[in-house]
Amino acid sequence: MATLTVGAVRERAPGERRVALVPEAVTLLRRAGIDVLIETGAGSGAWFTDADYTAVGATAVPPDELYARADAVLCVGPPDEEAAQALRPGQTLIGLLEPLRHPGLVEELTERSIRTVSLDLLPRTLSRAQSMDALTSQASVAGYKAALLAADSYDRFFPMLTTAAGTMRPAQVLVLGAGVAGLQAIATARRLGGVVTAYDVRPDSRGEVQSLGARFLDIQSPPNGEPGAGQGGYARELTEEEQQAQRDALDAHIARSDVVITTAQVPGRKPPLLVTAAVVERMTAGSVVIDLAASELGGNVEGSEPDKTTVLDNGVTVIGAGRLPSAMATAASTAYARNLVALLRHLVRDGELVLDPADEIAAALTGGGTS
Ligand code: NAI
Repeated sequence: MATLTVGAVRERAPGERRVALVPEAVTLLRRAGIDVLIETGAGSGAWFTDADYTAVGATAVPPDELYARADAVLCVGPPDEEAAQALRPGQTLIGLLEPLRHPGLVEELTERSIRTVSLDLLPRTLSRAQSMDALTSQASVAGYKAALLAADSYDRFFPMLTTAAGTMRPAQVLVLGAGVAGLQAIATARRLGGVVTAYDVRPDSRGEVQSLGARFLDIQSPPNGEPGAGQGGYARELTEEEQQAQRDALDAHIARSDVVITTAQVPGRKPPLLVTAAVVERMTAGSVVIDLAASELGGNVEGSEPDKTTVLDNGVTVIGAGRLPSAMATAASTAYARNLVALLRHLVRDGELVLDPADEIAAALTGGGTS
């Protein structure tokens, strides 16, 4: 029987500390009869040494050897130009390849007979695919870390505290976008003692928000428009008019919040602008705004920049936090590697990586281009 060899590469993106496989995952893959290569130094950002990997049966190799020997190359984010060039025809690249954001990459690799498996294309609501859902695992980390970052940057307490010096009022936290990251931010902010209100354009999110003990903001969703839910459980992109009406309805709530965490995304589109510079101006000094959607495409908060903390003249701190999973690289990598193990267990048959067009999961992950 053939033996599949997978190889986890070192991430090249600036500031990226995650790694596609952790030692625990190597053990599981070896048990499933899969050979594992790890690029030397790949795990260092997440505190795993090459020796940690080789101790459980992986082989640590330089990149040239990895690309020469691996049947499937495992990564977290999309490869840079050099890494993409190193891939060989017949190889399969598996990772969060962001095909909606960078369609050119997948097209180029497909032309070179390199198969791509984009974890971002996983059908989110398919229950048997949940263990492979890397968007969910990474968004959970981001939401948790966002609440911690907010609490750390906020110059007052989150909980109500009754002390000898009197009572401190609790922080008023507003979470905009109550998907996976938003719900985790809500849960974490509540655990820290904040009073949490949340809003999402998808009507289904109301129950989820309330089940976490937060208040759902009662503005029509979207104001004056059609329901905000789109396909596959995702939100649809609102029209310019709807977005304006939404901002008008949200402004007063944002202005009186101590902490605002925004997480709103629409797959493949520019994130909706929910918080304008004008409303941030109206917030109280010492308040904090965390924009999880901040990216090169823009964010939910006007003026937020990826990986940048700005203290405005009025004393409000705006943090562009689009890459939080990398800030908790060990937890994020461990969860991601578990997603990959579940995926490989599903796709590998008799030592071959089979991308069967009749299989709903394989078909989705390859964008329909299965072979
Ligand atoms: P996402 O990262 O694409 O977006 C985050 C949130 O922003 C979403 O809840 C979305 O509705 C919201 N949003 C978008 N535009 C908005 C706007 N203009 N105003 C306010 N909110 C806005 O979403 P995520 O977190 O990846 O989740 C996508 C969907 O998949 C959700 O419906 C989620 O419940 C579902 N899901 C289901 C799972 C399951 O059934 N097992 C597992 C994971 C996700």
